[in-house]
Amino acid sequence: MDWNIKRADKGLKGAITVPSDKSISHRAIMFSSIAKGECRVKNFLFSEDCICTLEAFRAMGVEIIKEDDVLVVKGKGLSGLNPPEEPLYMGNSGTSMRILSGILAGQTFEVKLEGDESLSRRPMKRIKDPLLLMGAEVGTLNGLCPPIHILPAREPLRAIDYITPVPSAQVKSCVLSAGLYAEGTTSVTENVQSRDHTERMLEYFSADIQRQGLTTRITGLKELTPKDINVPGDISSAAFLIVAALLVEGSDILLKRVGLNPTRTGLLTVLERMGAEFQISDRKDDVEPVGDIRVTATRLKGTIIEPEEIPLLIDEIPVVVVAALMAEGRTEIRGISELKVKESDRVKSIIENIAKLGITIYEENRTLLIDGGCKSFPAARLESFGDHRIAMSMAVAALVSDRGCEIRDTACVDTSYPAFLGDLEDLSRYSKM
Ligand code: S3P
Repeated sequence: MDWNIKRADKGLKGAITVPSDKSISHRAIMFSSIAKGECRVKNFLFSEDCICTLEAFRAMGVEIIKEDDVLVVKGKGLSGLNPPEEPLYMGNSGTSMRILSGILAGQTFEVKLEGDESLSRRPMKRIKDPLLLMGAEVGTLNGLCPPIHILPAREPLRAIDYITPVPSAQVKSCVLSAGLYAEGTTSVTENVQSRDHTERMLEYFSADIQRQGLTTRITGLKELTPKDINVPGDISSAAFLIVAALLVEGSDILLKRVGLNPTRTGLLTVLERMGAEFQISDRKDDVEPVGDIRVTATRLKGTIIEPEEIPLLIDEIPVVVVAALMAEGRTEIRGISELKVKESDRVKSIIENIAKLGITIYEENRTLLIDGGCKSFPAARLESFGDHRIAMSMAVAALVSDRGCEIRDTACVDTSYPAFLGDLEDLSRYSKM
């Protein structure tokens, strides 16, 4: 499927409830499936990635029933999963594959995890290494990539003290999940803070978990006690609408019930530095903090994003680049290595698309250099590179182009935000090809 997104000649207006958080939806299914008892998950995100997680647990015998907007998960306890009859298919989802591997490393059955073409190219050594240290038997293709092959755990895993070599919440969550199956206390220390949904949910489910600065300790072999979860809206999906409203003159939108976990709000901090002002209302604590965000069009200026900020807005960098192109002055995004191992090589995907808009942006010493000052973009044929966040970022660029842009191969958007085009239609005018 291709999109033909027209220039927005009027401001975006209206209120939208953004889709539910992808990271929290995955974790809600994973941890309630291995908790002891029933858990009601409200506002689960029915996107392709999260459905992969859900189907994986169904394939391991967990009863998950849909009742209106609630999923009832009948958790089977730490050791209650059944061996799946076939390899578990994780589609495009790195989160499913990496965190699930931590849980599966502690099971007494053999299992294989497979992914689509993009996931099959993504690095898995980063989770294999700590799992091997914990005594799990884990194999990957050429030692690096999926499929992942996990042999039955012969005894409880070994607790380790692990310093994550890459800033990755997925790696941290994989080790903490395996820590649930280890004898003793496993610790994970990060160099920079990444999203902490796993720590919060495990605390909420009464795991034996302590946090101190950048270190989290978990003591294994204790059953989890499920509690109901209401999944907040995904700030990473809201990001496209936030930047669109900032850039399209005359816009004034309200995004409702957006997750405001401070380990995810780096985008707001960076955009505020660029001159944006957000009005946040109706703040609540719903397992995680949520609130409504009002965004109005604003002239932006360039900024410097430091490496330690990157994990707090890792998925929003592509759309920040679009904002930076329209901002006054230069933006530097420092410490971008992890962007190269996402659903696509996002540095390459961004640079190539921006070149199609007739603009050169540079990568130097792990820094993206973007000279702003664009008033609008020329019409162009842009590529998704099979990456949902690239497709949606380019759609935002199209809204501020002279005559609209075509974006090719956009079915990938279903992995995180199936209703994106409809939401954009509600807020503006667009035409679909
Ligand atoms: C995620 C963590 C991030 C992010 C991904 C979701 C998670 O990946 O890019 O979309 O749910 O833990 P890394 O932690 O590997 O950077």
